[in-house]
Amino acid sequence: MQTKITRMLNIEHPIIQGGMHYVGFAELAAAVSNAGGLGIITALTQGTPEKLGNEIDKCRALTDKPFGVNLTFLPSLTPPDYPGLVETLINKGVTVVETAGNNPKAWLPILKENNIKVIHKCTSVRHALKAQDIGCDAVSVDGFECGGHPGEDDIPNFILLPRAADELKIPFVSSGGMADGRSLVASLAMGAEGMNMGTRFIATKEAPVHENVKQALLAATELDTRLVMRPLRNTERVLNNTAVERLLEKEASLGKDIKFEDIVAEVAGVYPKVMMDGEVDRGAWSCGMVAGLINDIPSVQELMDRIMNEADSIIAERLAGLQT
Ligand SMILES: Cc1cc2nc3c(=O)[nH]c(=O)nc-3n(C[C@H](O)[C@H](O)[C@H](O)COP(=O)(O)O)c2cc1C
Repeated sequence: MQTKITRMLNIEHPIIQGGMHYVGFAELAAAVSNAGGLGIITALTQGTPEKLGNEIDKCRALTDKPFGVNLTFLPSLTPPDYPGLVETLINKGVTVVETAGNNPKAWLPILKENNIKVIHKCTSVRHALKAQDIGCDAVSVDGFECGGHPGEDDIPNFILLPRAADELKIPFVSSGGMADGRSLVASLAMGAEGMNMGTRFIATKEAPVHENVKQALLAATELDTRLVMRPLRNTERVLNNTAVERLLEKEASLGKDIKFEDIVAEVAGVYPKVMMDGEVDRGAWSCGMVAGLINDIPSVQELMDRIMNEADSIIAERLAGLQT
């Protein structure tokens, strides 16, 4: 299948694996790229330019296909070495960057000078338009269903994607709630040029996370995510567990007086414990409503082939068959 996104990124299938903290390592990114999509390494998980450089080298040893790097810009008192991370990915010849979080405007000139395609992930049409204005090549439109940070507007993809299609000139991919061939065809129907998946890729053989995390996704239904940190205007969709319930009780009792320090135990330093040690109840970790559509742990190749075959048959058989 060829779309503006496959042509722009030089990939076979219009499927991207979004950056994921402590999941987006070289093994997963390479598996997605080898299967014809775009795999993405998450820079902040590596933390330092040197470690990011090593991870890029590792990914390149595992695939000769294009892959990207996610740069998440978070407000922080002690920000990561963003200049060093950007310099490293440029020096290592990375061709695609997924930006997320704050406006990436400051980084656009240097990324564009180095012929890097920039896909900005955003949760609203106004932010997507801003990304277009500052020169991003594409956007990833993340609906309310998504795992991670859905923003504060709460607009699901059945509204957000057609709204994006009506307003944007640059290509966009759908993100949030995407799992299978149905998701891909629906995204294309609503004007997207492909889809981005996070949670679905965690439940694959190659995802380098603890088996408990994959089993937690299999056990979860679409009813099992919660929104946390809304009072701090840093809303995150996470899998429910005992720590999340504790966190939500604190939010309810402290109300608008709540501060980040009040919930440190439930949110800080959680990802390595969950993803590497398998302590899935340790704290709040991102998970999309799409968990309700995840029922197996295929290899990335099996997942991608299944998605593309299902999409092809929906288009050629079900949809074509409806035309009289
Ligand atoms: C465990 C997990 C960690 C994530 N970490 C990041 C991150 O560090 N940076 C980022 O831009 N997005 C992050 N995301 C969001 C994904 O890239 C993607 O936008 C989202 O998962 C799409 O929704 P879905 O989970 O319904 O597919 C994360 C998502 C998950 C599930």
